[in-house]
Amino acid sequence: MEREERSEDPNLSGMARRAAEVLKGNDMGGWTRAAPTLYPHQWSWDSGFIAIGLAHLDTARAARELTLLFRRQWRTGKVPHIVFNPLAPPESYFPGPEHWISAGVFPDAPPAPPYTSALCQPPIHAVGALRIWEVAKGRGKDEKTALAFLREIYPKMLRWHRYLLTDRDPEESGLVTIYHPWESGTDNSPRWDEALEAVEIGVMASFRRRDLAHVDDPSERPTDKDYARYIWLVEMIKRARCDEREIYKNHPFRVKDVLMSAILVLANEALLEIAGLVDAPDEERERISAWISRGRSGLESRWDDEFGLCLDYDVRWRKPLRVRTVAGLAPLISGGIPESRRSRLLDTLDSGYFGGASGLRRLSLPPSTSPSERRFHSRSYWRGPVWPVINWLIWKSLLREGEETRAAEVRREAIAQIGAGGFAEYFEPFTGEPLGSDDQSWTAAVALDWVASLRDAS
Ligand code: SER
Repeated sequence: MEREERSEDPNLSGMARRAAEVLKGNDMGGWTRAAPTLYPHQWSWDSGFIAIGLAHLDTARAARELTLLFRRQWRTGKVPHIVFNPLAPPESYFPGPEHWISAGVFPDAPPAPPYTSALCQPPIHAVGALRIWEVAKGRGKDEKTALAFLREIYPKMLRWHRYLLTDRDPEESGLVTIYHPWESGTDNSPRWDEALEAVEIGVMASFRRRDLAHVDDPSERPTDKDYARYIWLVEMIKRARCDEREIYKNHPFRVKDVLMSAILVLANEALLEIAGLVDAPDEERERISAWISRGRSGLESRWDDEFGLCLDYDVRWRKPLRVRTVAGLAPLISGGIPESRRSRLLDTLDSGYFGGASGLRRLSLPPSTSPSERRFHSRSYWRGPVWPVINWLIWKSLLREGEETRAAEVRREAIAQIGAGGFAEYFEPFTGEPLGSDDQSWTAAVALDWVASLRDAS
């Protein structure tokens, strides 16, 4: 794959036009594949971000992105991490639907096809739904479409969040438990190394990876060792028939994920606003407010003062996972923090562990893993590269915290990175080289939102 050299000083209309073309190219008729070849299905958190981008192009289409995803919601309230495209060739992605249902259909799964995976991903969807409304507001027919969409999706989003706050947090800690690194969305982050290494692999059928065929260099993707454990964890979930209680008790990988928990707080804030717009009962609004407070206290309980970051917690082995990654900025994303906590987090962001690390191409865009970590790898997926969607979350959080100058700097650098490297999945932090998939849908989506925010400001 040859990458086209692009300008460092992007023309914003050109960027918005190209971003719209990427989303159109990945449009599968009402839903959007995450990327042209590496990810040929609908991914859950990708779709949440994609809705944010589509909101600027077509209100009804943006709404449909989430409506179709939530049509595959499980009886438990879970929104699956992948909805498989029945038309994608079986050899295009592994593990595909045939792998997930090889032991029979799960009792809580929705009617199929399309089949889904049995995992979930960070719940950014309510943030996407609210963005659709914000962009459509005051625009006649679009506003009506957006409001009708909010009325339809609100009860489903409420069930989704309730699932995460009950089945995934029976102890009411405010922190979501994940059963697979894929659920975090940050698959091979060193956050998970220790918990994953403790997983003993039993006997299972051999498998063939498909992901490596879609990148230039295998070091950009997780290793075979990681994959063996990923597939074993899938096997364990299948053997438990996706029974939530059984998994919560016995699964070999059970971790409280601080980034996912912070995104849930952000999404609950959006859901609370949506609840107001659709005249939801007071009792539901109170419940959502209580979830927000519970989430923030849960994150506070995982604060590590030495690192100046929030840390994930291994439920199985009862210990914090002490690794410096962007996930540790979780309290910035969940908000509602005192001034002292905010300034400490910003200091961490500027420190030699992140933005102050020597040789970074763009100082405001933190590497996914601190270069100081032994297991940092500048090209490998979540072990170092810079991710546009994380930049978007940081930008949004800084704006909410009233850090406008910093937020503008993140946006400026993030746009320049995409202007120079295209709509890549992720970027090498020292050189800015685009890595992973080209024409990644969520990269195009956040670029559209940044360009629109600049237009609104001018
Ligand atoms: N991100 C995973 C993959 O790379 C699965 O969600 O396939």
